[in-house]
Amino acid sequence: MTTKEIREKYIAFFKARGHKEIAPSPLVLENDPTTLFTSSGMQQMIPFLKGEKHPLGTRLVDSQPSLRLQDIEEVGDNRHTTFFEMLGNWSLGDYFKKDQLLWVWEFMTKEIGLDPKRLYVSCFVGNDEVGKDTESYDIWKKIGVDDGHIHFYDAKKNWWSRAGEPSKMPAGEIGGPDSEIFFEFENVSHYPAFGKFCHPNCDCGKFLEIGNSVFMQFMKNEDGTLSELPQKNVDFGGGLERIAAALNNDPDVFKIDIFKSIINKVEKEVGFNYGTDTKKTKSFRIVADHLRASCNLLAEGVLPSNKLQGYVLRRLIRRAMFHFHLLGAGISGSGVSHVAESLRREYTSIDKNWDFVEENLNVEATRFESALKRGLAKLTRAVSDGVKIDGKVAFDLYQNDGFPLELTMEILSQNGMNFSAEEKNLFESEFEKHKENSRSMSAGIFKGGLENKSDETITKLHTATHLLHAALREILGEHVGQKGSHITNERLRFDFSYPQKLTDDEIKKVENLINEKIKEDLPVTFSEMSLDEAIKTGALHFFAEKYGKKVKVYTMGSFSREICGGPHVTHTKDVGGVNIIKQEKIGAGIVRLYASLEGKS
Ligand code: SER
Repeated sequence: MTTKEIREKYIAFFKARGHKEIAPSPLVLENDPTTLFTSSGMQQMIPFLKGEKHPLGTRLVDSQPSLRLQDIEEVGDNRHTTFFEMLGNWSLGDYFKKDQLLWVWEFMTKEIGLDPKRLYVSCFVGNDEVGKDTESYDIWKKIGVDDGHIHFYDAKKNWWSRAGEPSKMPAGEIGGPDSEIFFEFENVSHYPAFGKFCHPNCDCGKFLEIGNSVFMQFMKNEDGTLSELPQKNVDFGGGLERIAAALNNDPDVFKIDIFKSIINKVEKEVGFNYGTDTKKTKSFRIVADHLRASCNLLAEGVLPSNKLQGYVLRRLIRRAMFHFHLLGAGISGSGVSHVAESLRREYTSIDKNWDFVEENLNVEATRFESALKRGLAKLTRAVSDGVKIDGKVAFDLYQNDGFPLELTMEILSQNGMNFSAEEKNLFESEFEKHKENSRSMSAGIFKGGLENKSDETITKLHTATHLLHAALREILGEHVGQKGSHITNERLRFDFSYPQKLTDDEIKKVENLINEKIKEDLPVTFSEMSLDEAIKTGALHFFAEKYGKKVKVYTMGSFSREICGGPHVTHTKDVGGVNIIKQEKIGAGIVRLYASLEGKS
């Protein structure tokens, strides 16, 4: 069974049980400063898990492309990837544990045919506030799962919220106990025997978690306690690639069909096969994973930069290139994009946006080449001046020039010099500090985002985005189309198709028109209708495939009519005023504008 077939079967299975298919979110959630990337299917479901009505009903299903950064350093083993697809089904106050666990079991064992004897499940053991989940245990028993295959774990393992266990949840965050399902690989002789050292939720690799049913029923209060949500929900997430690996009966996810074309391409470039030189296996995996993640990000219009998503993308591309070099392929942009081209077969969005993806991969590769040359020159000079290359110098090279430690070590050994274990430790400790900083940066975004989610500024900027879109079309012409948008607490960013940068005069005109419409105090209203109807009314829509079948159409007088999920102010005057603060040409035929609210720039 191909990965594509598993995805299709999953969607069909839940549709046959009354679920409506929803469109997945993009990797970078527009107008959501809560997180850097979509990292699970439930992110777009949060308001509905909290009780808001979803236009498509109470049973939903999708497959969500996701990116998890906490796994970046772990890529290289047989199961971690940064980019992955998460199969998801949700009950919004509809069915609960009994149906969910039965359906997961049926899907895994009957629909795709995993051997029930190789499946293990887990339940929440309970804590001070929430009791032991004997209900799930009883259901699993009834389904026919052996006692020895059902394990109880504490909140560290069997509680899910975006922040982790209950004590880590900020106020307003939702979560609940969960029940995971694991596949046990056979004939994996080097793994410790079951029972002695290892158990289903152990990280040794013998067991692989393939799905998680979260019983999303709690919200964290300001005083630190939990209270029940108005409804009991189910939030299931299943790792598509991992399920494919289980079906393949091989714990190496990089051996599933979806990775085949890219791994084959790398093999051709480097002249030997994946798995033949175990020391190089890690690099193969990093190249395949990081390029897959990078191309999916580029296809959405994210560009390498020194900030936020762009910074992550830059690291992914550079790491992929470096490991490509370790495999013996040299450092060249065309080499990397040549390999990446194979991904067009697996991902329609990469295929559709290939020119943009390729152009920007090459631009970043060239930048990396010069950074490497700079680093190399510094290093060679230091070596010939007899300067000791210690862990700190190596770390500075890494941080300032993107010069990886492995490369420093390689060059030192070429020069007959040694980088001692002690120096390596020093590098590692600098590196840990740096990681800690970026972790707190992400955590800060998460926390800051949560705090500001309903912030007035964000709501105003949403409305300002519609006004900007409409004004651009009026001043520049109807062919202007939205390509992307992103909102933070400080500003909005808007990408649109246009062949060249705007003149100062055009920018002024656009800005004046927006502010005129703000002064006119147009009412901002919305009505719900089907996507087809919405398109017929002439509502602007961006990436129609992203919307569900029922959509909200926001209207601002007769000036703007656009499909959007909101939130918006109720009258344009509430926006105050808008300043366009910056413009960039970000790629072939795409211009980016930044704007802020008056008095906030
Ligand atoms: N939200 C849960 C997870 O990400 C299940 O979808 O694992």
